[in-house]
Amino acid sequence: MCGIVGYTGYRDAFPVVVKGLKRLEYRGYDSAGIALHNQSLHVYKKMGKVADLEEHVVGKNISGKTGIGHTRWATHGEPSDRNAHPHLSASGKLAMIHNGIIENYNQLKQELLQKGYQFKSDTDTEVLLNFIDEIKENNHCSLEEAVRIALKRVTGAYVILLVEQDAPDTILAARKGSPLVIGVGKGEHFLGSDASPMLEYTKEVVYVNDYELAIIRPDELILKNLGNEVLTPYVQKLDIELAAIEKGGYDHFMLKEIFEQPQTIYDCLRGRLDAHKNKITLSGIEQYAKEICNANRIIMVACGTSWHAGLTAEYIFEECCRINVEVEYASEFRYRNPVIHPGDVIIAISQSGETADTLVAIENAKAKGAIILGVVNVVGSSIARISHAGAYTHAGPEIGVASTKAFTAQLAVLSMIALKIAQLKGTMPAERISALLSELEEIPGKVQQILSDTTGIESIAKKYATARDFLYLGRGYNFPVALEGALKLKEISYIHAEGYPAAEMKHGPIALVDDQLPVVFVATRDSYHEKVISNMQEIKARKGKVIAVVSEGDETAINLSESVMTVPVCDEMLAPLLTVVPLQLLAYYIGIARDCDVDKPRNLAKSVTVE
Ligand code: AGP
Ligand code: GLU
Repeated sequence: MCGIVGYTGYRDAFPVVVKGLKRLEYRGYDSAGIALHNQSLHVYKKMGKVADLEEHVVGKNISGKTGIGHTRWATHGEPSDRNAHPHLSASGKLAMIHNGIIENYNQLKQELLQKGYQFKSDTDTEVLLNFIDEIKENNHCSLEEAVRIALKRVTGAYVILLVEQDAPDTILAARKGSPLVIGVGKGEHFLGSDASPMLEYTKEVVYVNDYELAIIRPDELILKNLGNEVLTPYVQKLDIELAAIEKGGYDHFMLKEIFEQPQTIYDCLRGRLDAHKNKITLSGIEQYAKEICNANRIIMVACGTSWHAGLTAEYIFEECCRINVEVEYASEFRYRNPVIHPGDVIIAISQSGETADTLVAIENAKAKGAIILGVVNVVGSSIARISHAGAYTHAGPEIGVASTKAFTAQLAVLSMIALKIAQLKGTMPAERISALLSELEEIPGKVQQILSDTTGIESIAKKYATARDFLYLGRGYNFPVALEGALKLKEISYIHAEGYPAAEMKHGPIALVDDQLPVVFVATRDSYHEKVISNMQEIKARKGKVIAVVSEGDETAINLSESVMTVPVCDEMLAPLLTVVPLQLLAYYIGIARDCDVDKPRNLAKSVTVE
């Protein structure tokens, strides 16, 4: 969900809007566009960077004192010129930009198609725009009224800005679930996803709330709710600097993205999980449900943190679907000349969708007849495009090099796929599936609970920031979390850390244990708990420093630990969605204590597009 900018006033809109879009570039995007009003509506839009848009408009009519601009993070319809925003209504009299996801866009689209509407793009946004246009034309009502009626039928998240042919200096805006800030100037008004596009012109801002609608003119700001009641705008004076805005007030993108996880996991489940109806909707996967159900094996292919998601998925899929699962490092899989049987199903997991090893590995497997499903964050990325089908993680742009919110979104999607297949195959009792779906629905709230107080984790980080080595140990579903915790620490703090299955210690690594070695256990209450407690005792007996992620109220584990990080109780299958969060924070705070560049760690790239 990327960026929006609007302007109406006495200045030329184009430079104000384009500069504003550049202020929002930090949010990551794949396309940019602008609509200007000067006697008529002029729309310019391009896949690529804002600079590409600027090049595109050279020699074109970019005059006008009212304009709306958009940087797109595609969710419906791959990145392309025609899917970029602003979209023009069928009548050509309405231009709209949108951040968010319209969940029920398909149903609305079918209704409009039956009324003869045609679509120029694959986006959910164009459906909403034509839905508004249809209401306005049919009811012969104002745009404001049409928007109010339309938004009462829309489910999903949106911030929309509209400019209409017949109202040259007016911008209409509405929001639910995506951010909108209005900048109040003298004889001019600004709009933005955050305050960064307007900060140099005004520090007086109005934060628009969900279900509110604003009608903005150079000298007028009317705020209403969807019930058409006029509201009094609360104008605040900002005292925040630009750099802080980009990170949403957090010190680093990594911390911002860790704290976004309640929302990003919710966004990932949105429109797909309906626990009350025991329903999972994954249209991309459902196309290949038969092949997945009949597969003799599923191969998870990924790198790094995404590989840890794949390893977690091995435990989940084998438990739910009773299908043999293998987990492959893409970099090994691509060179090993693996045995692939037609009908094998490969799940390629990737945040960027551009990791070279993963891309080539699945290209080779596809050539050998495997079915490729992508679990990818970037819509329209290479891995998404060569996959037969898949499910996007909808975690939004992940700017920090260390993957955090993308990992938990991957786990959420993989859990839904496994439970969907379990339902179709009947390999799990319906009541167990139902319990897991309800549990999954509660995960965002439980992650929020963990994030509500991080002071304990910060003090643990300070205490162990000078350690030379760390061990991370876990069993079962928490074993991949131990590996992920170790990777996070290595990436962010440059401290050597290794993850192991806790039981593996006695086969050699326990020789490392002394009174200098912090050993992090992922030790939540689960079917391995008793064994993990013994492993903790083994380490303690050798003077190792036991740090543990424990379930709330687990006195046994707490009493064995020098330091604890607690997580809410939850079903063991979904525990990784919770237990990874303290480890992300531990790595972050240790990195800070060691003055590391936590958003751009040395030697690392956000997307490894080379071998
Ligand atoms: C994780 O924090 C690292 N940034 C890295 O291991 C990453 O997970 C790996 O490069 C895979 O990237 P992808 O998910 O974009 O394919
Ligand atoms: N869902 C819309 C699209 O895919 C908006 C995406 C965004 O928030 O940038 O075009």
